[in-house]
Amino acid sequence: GETAEAPTVPISEEVGSSIRDDGFAALGTTTELDSAGFLAAKSFIAGPVIVIRDPADAESIIALDSMCTHQGCSVEWKDSEFACPCHGSKFTAEGEVAEGPATKPLGSYEAKIDGDLVLVKAA
Ligand code: FES
Repeated sequence: GETAEAPTVPISEEVGSSIRDDGFAALGTTTELDSAGFLAAKSFIAGPVIVIRDPADAESIIALDSMCTHQGCSVEWKDSEFACPCHGSKFTAEGEVAEGPATKPLGSYEAKIDGDLVLVKAA
């Protein structure tokens, strides 16, 4: 049952759990994005997602399906590219294949920043 334990992070109610009227859901905050260099959630409402700042435009963000198109491992954002730990595929910041064995680009989501929230299209 419920205890007196209150959520310690106020933002948690806004993040990850609900779809807003505009169809977007918050994945995290810009502070989290900038301190980690990326935001990722394997069980985001719309599917596995990883978000980075657009290297070509600091005002924009890029949200991609984090599931490698080779055999479905989760790619990681490292050294300005997405790297798959399973068989070494690499993808550009836009999700294009930079190195196989993957042959298809990562899927993408619509994403935007609103205030300090990083939002990804979920519906
Ligand atoms: Fe990513 Fe094989 S699953 S390279």
